[in-house]
Amino acid sequence: SSQASSSDDGFLKCLSASIPGQLVFTRSSPSFTPLLKSSIRNPKFFTPATVRPLYIVTPTNASHVQAAVACGRRSGVRIRVRSGGHDYEGLSYRAVRNETFAVLDLSSLRAVRVDARASTAWVDSGATLGELYYAVGKASGLLGFPAGLCPTVGVGGHFSGGGFGMLLRKYGMAIDNVIDAVLVDVRGRLLSKNTMGSDVFWAIRGGGGESFGVVLSWQVRLVPVPPTVTVFNVPVTASQGAVDVVTRWQQVAPALPDDLMIRVVVQQQTANFQSLFLGTCDALLPVMSSRFPELRFNRSYCREMTWIQSVPYIYLGSGSTVEDLLNRTTSASVFASGYKATSDYVRRAIPRDAWATIFAKLSQPNAGLMILDPYGAAIGAVPESATPYPHRAGVLYNIQYMNFWSMAAGAGAVQTKWIRDFYAFMAPYVSSSPREAYFNYRDLDLGENVIVGNVSSYQAGMVWGQKYFKDNYKRLAMAKGEIDPEDYFRNEQSIPPLAKNK
Ligand code: FDA
Repeated sequence: SSQASSSDDGFLKCLSASIPGQLVFTRSSPSFTPLLKSSIRNPKFFTPATVRPLYIVTPTNASHVQAAVACGRRSGVRIRVRSGGHDYEGLSYRAVRNETFAVLDLSSLRAVRVDARASTAWVDSGATLGELYYAVGKASGLLGFPAGLCPTVGVGGHFSGGGFGMLLRKYGMAIDNVIDAVLVDVRGRLLSKNTMGSDVFWAIRGGGGESFGVVLSWQVRLVPVPPTVTVFNVPVTASQGAVDVVTRWQQVAPALPDDLMIRVVVQQQTANFQSLFLGTCDALLPVMSSRFPELRFNRSYCREMTWIQSVPYIYLGSGSTVEDLLNRTTSASVFASGYKATSDYVRRAIPRDAWATIFAKLSQPNAGLMILDPYGAAIGAVPESATPYPHRAGVLYNIQYMNFWSMAAGAGAVQTKWIRDFYAFMAPYVSSSPREAYFNYRDLDLGENVIVGNVSSYQAGMVWGQKYFKDNYKRLAMAKGEIDPEDYFRNEQSIPPLAKNK
């Protein structure tokens, strides 16, 4: 390879003392490309122009991770950590500019150990959310965990950036329920909550992946779920009054009882109201008729099931099973479409006439979609500085914008432009100073690190850092300065190091 140098051979030599050869892949290995591709979810980052790793290392125990970090640092090979590979900008397996790096793919480190009696679990970063949910559901029908909807998302990246899903109003974010973790730092040390220091333990729970080292596993508090939950999906088209119902939803959804979550997916001319209620249909009906009569909800929409059944039902559809949660493979259809996404937070309800314009824009050719996740209740009750994730009290809902295109049809220039134009149009209606964004919906349009003196610049990073983290950005940078002052673990949006006395 043109990027290879003698130092890289030093990397392989160094690794050979500590890691079995069959766990290390160079570009000349026939397994290299299939392995690289195995968890890529956005195929626009799998093209001939993509800056790829020189090596892929697939550790099967903690000592391999420690050795990879020590060898990488010694021989000038950076490491990009990959758990589930779902990063929207592909930063776990590709670089924007030329860089000598190895991918540390944690997919073989994916044990889940549930202690149902204590209502806790240890989950390795390479596990998927589906594997975590499945293990919890197997251990107890009365326990669940509040994290994202998509079962193939990796625990490592998801927890690192926050993590929310259908239980966010009742139990908050994934990180609000993390009680311990195991971290390999830049010196190759294996650290726990007690030995990594309180600022670093604070930082790894939501301060973003890559920045602080390699998180190997997480201890979480499991949460109670009732034996029966109710799921519904009510589509409302524009001609059925979607503009009015969505306008009303903005005030209703964030103020509902915490066991009721009603999100909205708005696409073309339809608003789909998707819900999880922690209780029976009989208990749900009076809440809907008193709080949200505009939706004209009735019993025929109710689907009662167990919580674990609701997980595949909501994301994979009514024909799916609980066993489908264990399917880790990237489906061919996913690989066929590239996408661009970004996010906003809404703190003041958007006026009805703006919604009318939004619906019009969503029916333009090559338009994208919007996902609205209501906040309030538990997620808003956590103080802004308690975790790095600052989008708490006062947020009515989170918006995710997404646009997809067929890779066969090109690079998605039109769809990407649609997202950027729509994002500009939305500016007056969403949070400002800073315009808040969700780290796990990563968007490099928000800004990229600038390297000054071989470290990422704190000043330059403020541009994107305050959008994701508000005032927590500075404390994150100080935690980074403590655990990785030379900025070995870095990418285009990693936290820059700041010395404590600055
Ligand atoms: P990936 O492996 O790509 O890692 C993401 C980042 O974290 C990279 O920078 C990587 O280097 C770093 N990293 C990974 N593992 C690490 C580790 N062990 N230690 C340190 N750093 C590590 N989000 C949400 O909150 N709710 C949701 O419902 C969904 N749904 C959803 C659906 C789909 C289809 C996608 C593609 C994404 C989502 N997400 C989401 C966003 C998701 O939470 C986000 O992309 C996560 O970072 C993905 O984690 P992975 O481990 O899969 O990513």
